[in-house]
Amino acid sequence: MKVLLLEKIHPAASRILRAEGWSVVSESKSFAQDDLKKAIRKINALGIRSKTEVTSSVLDQAEALECITCFCIGSDQIDIGACTERGIAVFHAPYSNTRSVSELVIGQIVMLMRGIMDANANMHQGIWRKFAAHANEVRGKTLGIIGYGHIGSQVSILAEALGLEVIFYDIREALALGNARRARSLKELLGASDIVTLHVPDTESTRGMIGGPEMRAMKKGSFLINTSRGKVVKLEPLKDALLKKHLRGAAIDVFPHEPGANGPGWECSLRGLPNVILTPHIAGNTKEAQREIGLSASEKMRKFLRKGTTTGSLNFPQLELPPLDGRRRLYQPATDPRDAADYARWPDAIHLLALPGAVAVRLPGLGAVPRRRHSDPWRSGRAVRVGR
Ligand SMILES: NC(=O)c1ccc[n+]([C@@H]2O[C@H](COP(=O)([O-])OP(=O)(O)OC[C@H]3O[C@@H](n4cnc5c(N)ncnc54)[C@H](O)[C@@H]3O)[C@@H](O)[C@H]2O)c1
Repeated sequence: MKVLLLEKIHPAASRILRAEGWSVVSESKSFAQDDLKKAIRKINALGIRSKTEVTSSVLDQAEALECITCFCIGSDQIDIGACTERGIAVFHAPYSNTRSVSELVIGQIVMLMRGIMDANANMHQGIWRKFAAHANEVRGKTLGIIGYGHIGSQVSILAEALGLEVIFYDIREALALGNARRARSLKELLGASDIVTLHVPDTESTRGMIGGPEMRAMKKGSFLINTSRGKVVKLEPLKDALLKKHLRGAAIDVFPHEPGANGPGWECSLRGLPNVILTPHIAGNTKEAQREIGLSASEKMRKFLRKGTTTGSLNFPQLELPPLDGRRRLYQPATDPRDAADYARWPDAIHLLALPGAVAVRLPGLGAVPRRRHSDPWRSGRAVRVGR
């Protein structure tokens, strides 16, 4: 089994995969399209982070690829539809940095409410300026969480431990943890919160969801925190609300346009404003999160290649089947369940099932896998072999 890991994936991942006896090549850089087309040809599994783009023309060169694992949260860098058509499973590591983001949000709440950014800036300029008038304890204040998923609910638990009251707004039903209370509407949450923190994905419904009217609906003197996605908050109205002192501060970690590489020259209308914490999309970046991503993503890769487990896959139906003890599992993608039941109509599938130890599992809902150019009998028909 040949595995290629790109973009300096945590060494814990190579250790797990090498322990299986697999050949693992780990590169620190991402590959440009032409290099990736060459490198992908003979490998069985590819691990990437956010910079490597896996397009359908790259996938066309892959002769033996069975899965791609994103050692990060996002998966926009992969043409997932093209992977599904080719029977290639895609995985990612969605929860590995939940705790890191949540801890930063708690820190930001305290820093903003105590005006620490301004005190720190003064001190670095040699100005000793004590104040109490604009500093508050967080205890007893109300935290409004928009998006009560993995991060939102984790922030909720940590915030209650500090004595904050928590209300949340989410479009889906979610279990209210501890004493947290669900707000009936976004407007209710905005009007009731001393601090509003956003933990929603980047979707049509969330893009620009916090603009001028929403900021005006927030309490005077409240704070806004965004560690979710850059396009969720409109920055010009935020600047306006801060300059008019309607909002007393903000912490922004994600931006509508983020540079691809580190370096000077970054522009943002919030630069230089008092009591504003600006960070370069690092809420989830900790050593612990990187290690956790390495462990959890490589484990998904290992379980898929060894046992055919698809739990957590972004494009395969979720299956957690018992190990096969040296036998191989055949996943038979089928758009029409009647086809899947009728092997006689699938000469390739019969051929594949005749191979020693093959076990067929129907995967209704997964598009048919087109014929491959290469000669591996396992991959020559509308079937995907996994587990070895
Ligand atoms: N800054 C960073 O470094 C960093 C790190 C990790 C995650 N993130 C981002 O944080 C966000 C949250 O991550 P998560 O793991 O908690 O995601 P999640 O999918 O577990 O939770 C998102 C929640 O938002 C809710 N939601 C979706 N649309 C909504 C809407 N219009 N109104 C209200 N609620 C809505 C969903 O129902 C869900 O409960 C994501 O955008 C993710 O990309 C940022």
